[in-house]
Amino acid sequence: IERTFSMIKPDATARNLTGAITKMLEDAGLRVIASKRVWMSRRQAEGFYAVHKDRPFFNELCEFMSSGPTVVQVLEGENAIARNREIMGATNPAEAAEGTIRKLYAKSIGENSVHGSDGPETAAQEIAYWFAETEIVG
Ligand code: GTP
Ligand code: MG
Repeated sequence: IERTFSMIKPDATARNLTGAITKMLEDAGLRVIASKRVWMSRRQAEGFYAVHKDRPFFNELCEFMSSGPTVVQVLEGENAIARNREIMGATNPAEAAEGTIRKLYAKSIGENSVHGSDGPETAAQEIAYWFAETEIVG
């Protein structure tokens, strides 16, 4: 059984989509074993997205991610990392497959409603960035 880290981004919380998105994750076989709503600071966003610091969209990304509330979650399930990325869909909603979260809800390549870890190492790092072990109840 695998764990992954997920975020419901500010464009989605603003449209009251926390429940709808969480239901899609649960329907895909993922279990929410930790969840909290956070309005991250600019510095927290910069720390979380440090791997993207040299990308042209870094400033825009950190500005957006600190512009409103986010829901951070730990998801558990068989192949949770790949399963979550499948249900999220492509980064750019114009390229996302039918039935995916981003196809349904993302507004643009930047304001794309959800985040999901891209591998086991990043999943462990990202979970530890937002959660203490005691907050995760499997
Ligand atoms: P995450 O699950 O959020 O990591 O998405 P991803 O793995 O599909 O995308 P990637 O790691 O390449 O980029 C991280 C995030 O940066 C994306 O989810 C977008 O919110 C944002 N991003 C990526 N490319 C662009 C871009 O060209 N413009 C803007 N404004 N934001 C971008
Ligand atoms: Mg990524």
